[in-house]
Amino acid sequence: MNKDIGMTQALLFHCAGPEGPAMFKSLCKQLEHKAPDIEPRLWPEVGNPDEVRYAAVWLPPDGFFEPLTKLAAVLALSAGVERLLDDPHLPAHLPVIRLEDAGMGELMAEYVLYGVLHAHRQFPQLVANAATAHWGRDCPGNAAKAFHIGILGAGVLGQQVAMRLVKNGYTPTCWSRTNRSLPEGIGHCHGDEALLDLARNSQVLVCLLPLTTATRNILDKELFNVMPAGGFVINAARGEHLVDRDLIAAISRGALAGALLDVFREEPLPAEHPFWAESRIIVTPHIAAPSQPTATAAQVVDSIVKLEHGQQPGGLVNRELGY
Ligand code: NAP
Ligand code: GLV
Repeated sequence: MNKDIGMTQALLFHCAGPEGPAMFKSLCKQLEHKAPDIEPRLWPEVGNPDEVRYAAVWLPPDGFFEPLTKLAAVLALSAGVERLLDDPHLPAHLPVIRLEDAGMGELMAEYVLYGVLHAHRQFPQLVANAATAHWGRDCPGNAAKAFHIGILGAGVLGQQVAMRLVKNGYTPTCWSRTNRSLPEGIGHCHGDEALLDLARNSQVLVCLLPLTTATRNILDKELFNVMPAGGFVINAARGEHLVDRDLIAAISRGALAGALLDVFREEPLPAEHPFWAESRIIVTPHIAAPSQPTATAAQVVDSIVKLEHGQQPGGLVNRELGY
């Protein structure tokens, strides 16, 4: 990697989330210990843009990258990178490094477990009964092991979610693009042709895919139509994975029992969106697994140290595949 000898090397930080200030503080501390030659800068204090060698970002504003012509790498403060890869000012050759877990796996596992319990113990129906003071005892729970969960994605988060579900007695099956060997207790299938079969056998479908051209609109009526009656959908990946009107239609006609949604095509979800008015849909404001400040800063600094030593850090995005 080319460096101009004697020139200050800086990392420019921008995080649009509420965790930004704590993350920057932790980043400064960790850089001081592990990479003291890299000066942290908080956007919009760019200083001399030619000194900016690294950018660490979550939802940077339009034009953020334009003046940064000497960047060596971009470190995403997120697991998903689709917005970053769409940035027209991001040079095609630049390495993009995403977060791998950084504390998000445990949170995501809790979030999905909550949704699975909600569906398994028929809470959509129980909540509706309670709203009309109906003492309905016709919501029996079957054994967790007979309640099948299909997880779209067998990556960092999909696997952790699956492991948590196994610990709670469920039988999850993960779906991925390529063949993989997963820990004991987790079923696995891969490839486009396996998806409909997975949906057919899943009382709950959980989406933990990256958003790419291959996965956009993947949660649609084709899947909902083959799911077992009373199925439930959990989308904690990206809003564009889900065809909103197909979900509303499937729930309205009683084919699906409900959904737990954390991500939306437009965020914040507009007040007039029909998801808010459907009591069988639980809307959460993209909080399933927020980036954790200390763990994120540690991963960013670790990646920089590796890059500075000519090594490849974990989380390197395949820009052709989009994840
Ligand atoms: P990851 O490690 O890259 O895993 C992605 C998984 O998706 C891999 O198993 C991959 O298959 C599979 N996949 C990709 N394209 C596919 C396709 N066309 N068909 C079938 N499977 C495909 O990603 P991660 O760290 O688990 O994160 C997943 C996503 O979660 C992120 O991209 C982000 O959108 C979302 N997320 C949301 C929140 C939140 O708070 N709501 C927080 C963090 C992340 P292979 O194994 O074959 O490569
Ligand atoms: C959050 O949505 C992430 O991609 O990390």
